Amino acid sequence: LIDIRELYRNKDQYIGKEVQVGGWVRSIRDSKTFGFIVVNDGTYFETLQIVYHDALENFAAISKLNVGSAIIVKGKLVATPEAKQPFEIQAKEVQIEGTSTSDYPLQKKRHTLEYLRTMTHLRPRTNTFQAVFRVRSLIAYAIHQYFQERDFVYVHTPIITGSDCEGAGEMFRVTTLDLNNLPLTKEGKVDTTQDFFGKETNLTVSGQLNGETYAMAFKNIYTFGPTFRAENSNTTRHAAEFWMIEPEIAFADLKDDMALAEGMLKYIINYVLEHAPEEMKFFNQFIDQGLLERLQVVANSEFGHVTYTEAIEILEKNNDNFDYKVSWGCDLQTEHERYLTEQVFKKPVFVTDYPKEIKAFYMKLNEDNKTVAAMDLLVPGIGEIIGGSQREDDYDKLLKRMEELGLKKEDYDFYLDLRKYGSARHAGFGLGFERCVMYLTGMGNIRDVVPFPRTVNNCDL
Ligand code: 4AD
Ligand code: MG
Repeated sequence: LIDIRELYRNKDQYIGKEVQVGGWVRSIRDSKTFGFIVVNDGTYFETLQIVYHDALENFAAISKLNVGSAIIVKGKLVATPEAKQPFEIQAKEVQIEGTSTSDYPLQKKRHTLEYLRTMTHLRPRTNTFQAVFRVRSLIAYAIHQYFQERDFVYVHTPIITGSDCEGAGEMFRVTTLDLNNLPLTKEGKVDTTQDFFGKETNLTVSGQLNGETYAMAFKNIYTFGPTFRAENSNTTRHAAEFWMIEPEIAFADLKDDMALAEGMLKYIINYVLEHAPEEMKFFNQFIDQGLLERLQVVANSEFGHVTYTEAIEILEKNNDNFDYKVSWGCDLQTEHERYLTEQVFKKPVFVTDYPKEIKAFYMKLNEDNKTVAAMDLLVPGIGEIIGGSQREDDYDKLLKRMEELGLKKEDYDFYLDLRKYGSARHAGFGLGFERCVMYLTGMGNIRDVVPFPRTVNNCDL
């Protein structure tokens, strides 16, 4: 079998020759003596037209096929200069792999993304999702390539963990206890020592703490894996299960961290523009006009930089137009992030040095004792796509901060050890993989860039 993508890429090589293609029927129409079938084989979002005649012994069976059927076709590829498609197959043989029933939901017409979300098992058979998930796959590969080319070690951090990296309490509990018959302590609390691991555990919200231990051994590492957050936010950019890429670099500070992030994002953009030009053109045409031009500019210009304090000054001037008014000390909401990156800077921008109160315990305290060496990268259309920081490398300062926040020292002994045995300046960041896919494809909803999305009240399939 030959891929339809290959036929499009090297058509001159195949026109006039006999080819064999397997695919799923997108549409079929027939008259008494001949018919047309349009198939897609998943290698390319474009389709291939097949012409078949009543000379075929199974002509009647072919004509009865419903949309969605799987077939294998053998025949000559002929050029069709007048038609929309550059060529078609004149079938010598149509082998029916599997028929489909007439209630197949993806009939030939435009379906809304909302409608397609109700059938996550079938939507990858549509043009848009073919393009999205092929590009998602390529972006993952590009990210590995970026770090591997720079000799970073890929570390597999655990999914089940006992710690809460971000300290936000947004964790999914992992338990094997019988919820209808929980073992209780003398005080009447749930006796978690009787649970599988002998203690409370949860799905990881970030691989960072484990990642740091490997950075203190390998110097440069990255993680790339699923993370979980029980955030009760029903937005277009939050998922309960998402993938995160978390590099961690030793002997490095916040500036190095931002340079790494900027280099990575530009690398990914260039990679998909080069390796998925057809899909990117498709997004530019049907999903987000202007996408290609925008990405090209981003790949070739410097990102913006602004401190949190400066950003608040800018935002305060526009407070009348925000639902949520800002003042120094508050966390930035999506509307503020988007205003900064879309209206003020009009490009990706790093916001740095946030108040320590609104950031995680592990971030390095700045000399002002009020802010931490944090950075968020904001991009147009989405807002925060990366969150990172230089880490507190001073044992006493870290312990003090943990005590202030009520973290149990015994849960973080391994982490404190890193500050005891050869502590070194280090920094890292987390790139939200789905937000990155949204940014590169122009897709507006995180549910449409995850194969099987998990969001509040939704865990289908
Ligand atoms: O800013 P966050 O919470 O940072 C961390 O987890 C750090 N431990 C990273 C590090 O320094 N190693 O999350 C990082 C990124 C966000 O910028 C966002 O892109 C994405 O993860 N993210 C989500 N993506 C989809 N759905 C959610 N619920 C997300 N929460 C965070
Ligand atoms: Mg963040």
